[in-house]
Amino acid sequence: MPIEEANALRSSRLAALQAECAELWGGWPAAITLEIGCGHGHFLTAYAQTNPAEHCLGVDLLADRVARARKKARRAGRANLAFFHADAALLLEALPPAVRLQRIFVLFPDPWPKRRHHKNRILQAPFLQQLAGRALPGALLCFRTDFEPYFREVESLLSNHPAWRPEQAPWPFEFETVFQSRAETHHSLVARCTAPAP
Ligand SMILES: C[S@@+](CC[C@H](N)C(=O)[O-])C[C@H]1O[C@@H](n2cnc3c(N)ncnc32)[C@H](O)[C@@H]1O
Repeated sequence: MPIEEANALRSSRLAALQAECAELWGGWPAAITLEIGCGHGHFLTAYAQTNPAEHCLGVDLLADRVARARKKARRAGRANLAFFHADAALLLEALPPAVRLQRIFVLFPDPWPKRRHHKNRILQAPFLQQLAGRALPGALLCFRTDFEPYFREVESLLSNHPAWRPEQAPWPFEFETVFQSRAETHHSLVARCTAPAP
């Protein structure tokens, strides 16, 4: 696709997401919990039920997964829960500017095991920087995967990142995801945002 066309498409997606954001939660809270790659929404729905005071947003690239997650949210009748069909990086741009992230979950992201595909992984240095730019100081990033090489790489990225510090903090909320139920084992990491407020 020619670059001008790609830019125009991105701008129109961003504008549509901003409009969707404006319609959701008329008055947005100062801070939200975000699940990136929420799939069918099992985890975040359970999380939002257990944490009714938190506003929870799930985002996934796949329309059918988001449709199922939305159905689940409707059935649960939770006003503090919503799902977006979008690329996570674009959604971060579309959020109302004052809204900050207090907790971020990334659970079993696609591992892209082949080296030439690593560029497709969601957790890379530029995205960690973008997340830190939207996070509250002290916010938690909770990452879980069954693919140990990805786990080690993210652990190293976070340990060397100026805005994130891995901690020995307990995993804040247990609820088995679809991909977790298929995994024999998994690795979890919690990191705290040390960046000053943007
Ligand atoms: C392996 S699945 C895991 C789903 C769920 N977290 C679970 O544990 O069952 C990874 C999910 O991340 C989504 N995803 C991948 N890249 C994404 C991106 N850039 N923005 C939003 N979602 C993304 C995929 O569409 C997929 O649903």
